[in-house]
Amino acid sequence: MPQSEFAAVFNAGRDSFIRNTPLIWGPTGQALAYQLQLRPGETVLDFCCGAGSSAIPAAMAVGPTGRVHGIDLADDLLEEGRLVASQRALQNVDFVATDATLWEPPSSVPDAGYDALSSSYGVFFLPDMDRAVHRLLGLLRPGGRFGVSVWRSGSLSAFTGPYFEVLGRYSDEEPARRTVDAGAARDRATKLDTIEHLTEWLTRIGGSAVTVRELSAFVPATEQVCWDMVAGSALRGTLAKFDGETVARIRDDYLSLLVERDVHTIDLGTLIGTATIG
Ligand SMILES: C[S@@+](CC[C@H](N)C(=O)[O-])C[C@H]1O[C@@H](n2cnc3c(N)ncnc32)[C@H](O)[C@@H]1O
Repeated sequence: MPQSEFAAVFNAGRDSFIRNTPLIWGPTGQALAYQLQLRPGETVLDFCCGAGSSAIPAAMAVGPTGRVHGIDLADDLLEEGRLVASQRALQNVDFVATDATLWEPPSSVPDAGYDALSSSYGVFFLPDMDRAVHRLLGLLRPGGRFGVSVWRSGSLSAFTGPYFEVLGRYSDEEPARRTVDAGAARDRATKLDTIEHLTEWLTRIGGSAVTVRELSAFVPATEQVCWDMVAGSALRGTLAKFDGETVARIRDDYLSLLVERDVHTIDLGTLIGTATIG
């Protein structure tokens, strides 16, 4: 999917995305910042930062003498990040609209580079992921840390399975094509979705002292949470070709199927991997 479409999908899903922040995105972002062991005065780049789920905890960790750059394509999510930062009187975080694969750090970043780089549920959206990450890692100082959070294999399936089943009733396309950039993003995510895969990947890209932990989390499969997960994530792109009436029917069918299947909780199992680079 072209980058501008990512921005359009996530911008349009802003309200749903934000409603799910306290349940879904926020706790992981906090855990990622913690596992990176950020210290006062450090400089951090958080890419694919969305509304700041990991950039805000990073800014709180590095304190007033530190600096965080949160970068994302979706302006509306960045605007929410700015709002939360100002509500918390954080003056050490900048939210910038840009493609993470093109980011050039401003002169305020020390010549040696950032102390840490992070991305929560973002890295697998980068086309040519390894190459993009290789470039981003070049912005780290020697001995800097890199951390990502990704979905663990099998997580979300009780929720996405019924969704694709319903979508199939409305579309002739094969399932793999129905997600936004499905083939590619899903393949990239699969490369990182077990402790072994993520450890191997972090090592292969030059990491040492690799630590991968599983963050276990289950959220209630209420109508609001489930539909917000569709409407406030990349899945929203699967609805773009339908008119409003059809989207409403898809929503109703989907929520009914979840009840029929007795889905009461969504497994949000997540892996958080960190490594020292160089
Ligand atoms: C699932 S959201 C995660 C947002 C945030 N890290 C969080 O956990 O709340 C993925 C984000 O990646 C962003 N994104 C995708 N491709 C990008 C790119 N090439 N450059 C910057 N941001 C990108 C999207 O706009 C979206 O906000």
